[in-house]
Amino acid sequence: MRQGAIIWLTGLSGAGKTTIAHGVAQELLLRNCLLEVLDGDVVRTNLSLGLGFSKQDRDTNVRRIGFVAELLSRNGIIAIVAAISPYREIREQLKKTSTNFVEVYVNAPLCVCEFRDVKGLYAKAKAGQIKHFTGISDPYEEPLNPEIICQTNKFTPQQCVSQVLDYLEQQEFISALDFVTK
Ligand code: ADX
Repeated sequence: MRQGAIIWLTGLSGAGKTTIAHGVAQELLLRNCLLEVLDGDVVRTNLSLGLGFSKQDRDTNVRRIGFVAELLSRNGIIAIVAAISPYREIREQLKKTSTNFVEVYVNAPLCVCEFRDVKGLYAKAKAGQIKHFTGISDPYEEPLNPEIICQTNKFTPQQCVSQVLDYLEQQEFISALDFVTK
């Protein structure tokens, strides 16, 4: 059986987690890997439906995603997680208890995320229409020892995707020989 892994993308809303997650997924498909993407926005419409954004609810959400990701990785699947997961302690717990956990800090300065404001949520949060918004009225605790830092304000999405793939190759989670040959 091939080796599974958990690629855990953490960072502010709008930092680029989902874009990198799907970019990595596409590349892994070309390498014939089994994978699944677990995106916070999607998980919150099913597995975590009804949870809010208090610390307790966020930790519950993150724990659930971590649980599913671990089941997948244990079965040879690469689980790619994109979730703000703002609290360091719970991320560290997952790192300790999971096998093959790769923490990726998707790092764009807050002002850049605010400027991008892809979903219009920062404007609402600043106007006080959304409470507990990460970076505005709720904390984001940066990873202290991430395996990878993707600086999405300095590099293109494709460069960030390559950074993740290079790491996976170096660590022998995947091999350059995995490409499907026709
Ligand atoms: S986490 O903190 O529990 O990891 P998660 O990644 O699942 O968060 O969900 C974040 C998404 O929920 C954001 O991308 C945004 O679209 C939406 N959202 C709604 N309210 C908030 C909020 N108060 N803080 C952050 N994100 C929010």
